[in-house]
Amino acid sequence: MKNLVILVSGSGSNLQRIIDTVDSGEIPDAQISLVVADRECYGLERARNHNIENVLIPRGKNFSSELGKIIPENTDLIVLAGFLSILKPEFCENWNGKIINIHPALLPKYGGKGMWGHHVHHAVIDAKEKESGATVHFVTSGIDEGEAILQKSFEVTENDTAETLAEKVHKIEYEIFPEAINKVLGN
Ligand code: GRF
Repeated sequence: MKNLVILVSGSGSNLQRIIDTVDSGEIPDAQISLVVADRECYGLERARNHNIENVLIPRGKNFSSELGKIIPENTDLIVLAGFLSILKPEFCENWNGKIINIHPALLPKYGGKGMWGHHVHHAVIDAKEKESGATVHFVTSGIDEGEAILQKSFEVTENDTAETLAEKVHKIEYEIFPEAINKVLGN
């Protein structure tokens, strides 16, 4: 049985997708052993609704060291699913190769500090990009710099807004996230 720890900061629809695909066996032989949030959020509520062990560690400079203290040693994969805090380099090194993140754009474009959520979608619209997408990648101490695991794109049309892009990106995320988790777990 593979143990997943999921980190969230927001609505947690990607967390929901992971819960559902673990339940359905699409991600086989796995369980979510812990959900960690860095703020009160609907993602945390989803964990509570599904009776998944959950904890809130307030965001701030001690987040990574507090997380390091409580994370089960037998964790196979730490999944950042709409998680907004930056993990400290020491934490990333300790769990090297076992932390993945989903990013709402085609990295290496539109990554790095400040590039999250609607900021990414607005930047894509402003640059008149012809395509956008989502990327699942390994987490290293460089923000959004780790090796890509899976990426999928879609066409940006003239009528798209930051809101429609967010919707399209989410659809793609729900496809590639379980697939990427399976890939990393060796399924
Ligand atoms: C996703 O688009 C993810 O790529 C980004 O934040 C969003 C989180 O959405 N980092 P949700 O909380 O999973 O609904």
